[in-house]
Amino acid sequence: MRDSANRGPMLTRTDTRARALADLEPVPEDSLIALIGLVNADPRPDKIDVGVGVFRDGAGNTPILKVMKDAERRLLETQDSKAYLGSAGDKRYAELLRPILLGEHAGDDRIAGLQTPGGCGALRLGFELIATVNPRARVFLGTPSWPNHAPIINAVRLECVDYPYYETGQATIRFEDMIAALESGEPGDVALLHGCCHNPTGADLSEDQWREVVRTVGERGLIPLIDIAYQGFGRGLDPDAFGVRLMLQACDEVIVAQSCDKNFSVYRDRVGCLFVKTGSKTATQTAMGHVFQSAREMWSMPPDHGAACVHIILDDPRLRADWLVELKAMRDRINSVRRRIASADPRLAFIGRQFGMFSMLPLSPEQVLKLRRDRAIYMAESGRFNVVGMGDGQIDRFIAAVIEAMDG
Ligand SMILES: Cc1ncc(COP(=O)(O)O)c(C=O)c1O
Repeated sequence: MRDSANRGPMLTRTDTRARALADLEPVPEDSLIALIGLVNADPRPDKIDVGVGVFRDGAGNTPILKVMKDAERRLLETQDSKAYLGSAGDKRYAELLRPILLGEHAGDDRIAGLQTPGGCGALRLGFELIATVNPRARVFLGTPSWPNHAPIINAVRLECVDYPYYETGQATIRFEDMIAALESGEPGDVALLHGCCHNPTGADLSEDQWREVVRTVGERGLIPLIDIAYQGFGRGLDPDAFGVRLMLQACDEVIVAQSCDKNFSVYRDRVGCLFVKTGSKTATQTAMGHVFQSAREMWSMPPDHGAACVHIILDDPRLRADWLVELKAMRDRINSVRRRIASADPRLAFIGRQFGMFSMLPLSPEQVLKLRRDRAIYMAESGRFNVVGMGDGQIDRFIAAVIEAMDG
């Protein structure tokens, strides 16, 4: 039962029996977080951590971008107040992101945006909005997807319906199955899509496939919610936003959850943005009223620091140019490591055709555990690994161990 009147967005269901805190059931540990603990506990100096989802450079570090340091210095010198900004956060920040994400739709006044605590905050707000408008909406979620999607959807008590997305053994998108599943949607149901650099598979929709998805979403009256957390890590800022922009061109109602945590390398600073499009400026303003209210209930207003720095970078032509250079360096490293792994063995060739930080190796959970035990190589049991989780000096050893495991 999902009755909006009874829906307390931040409340866990308490059922009828009053219980003491001591009665709480333990929560199973998040497997990716648990993996970080295992890596840290391994004393072997040559261990390889391709589990955690952060960009690492050739030396194996996740440095703060030089341009971010410049922006932080400028913020320190110029910021004269830390007074509240309001639920929308830094409005100029959201304005500056519009051309980057929305492209030719940046001037469309039926699209409104607001700063959120990371991509997670944007996803949560987007689903809150859906649950407010239609608590019976079902959310079509690809399998596999980023493991935090289902919990965020469940938190607002919307029902998840899986759609097949990827065939690991074949390294192919199950496109016909995906379309068939979306065709079973009812008007008002939601299609959750990855804008680019699909996590965990690296398998992105082609432009023709996007056209087909857009057509299906339009015909069925589904609301697309596009999660774009890695813009600029695949082919470039504009090509990575192809799907978002095509959807905006074709559909009246679109929600986009954007993260700047990866492409500005500010993971812990929690920098994101939610964009909402409806059929009219007035309806969008009303929808944003609901979004502001949800934000106010959950975090009142987003943290300022990271978004303030992104604002400084994007508002200054020199800093913006510097950011583009550093973003390209991250993208180039991802794609060159991909090519290096792909060329090592025909069974790994698919990695060179995929995008972003993640791909899935055709390994069983047993093979993954053996790699951990015998080779100190840590990845998710699904075989998902972070292409740039290792430094340059570790790549050959990683490739050799994976080939050994596949031969296994
Ligand atoms: C697909 C996807 N969406 C959203 C996020 C959330 O990003 P953030 O750290 O900005 O909340 C991530 C982070 O790993 C992700 O992989």
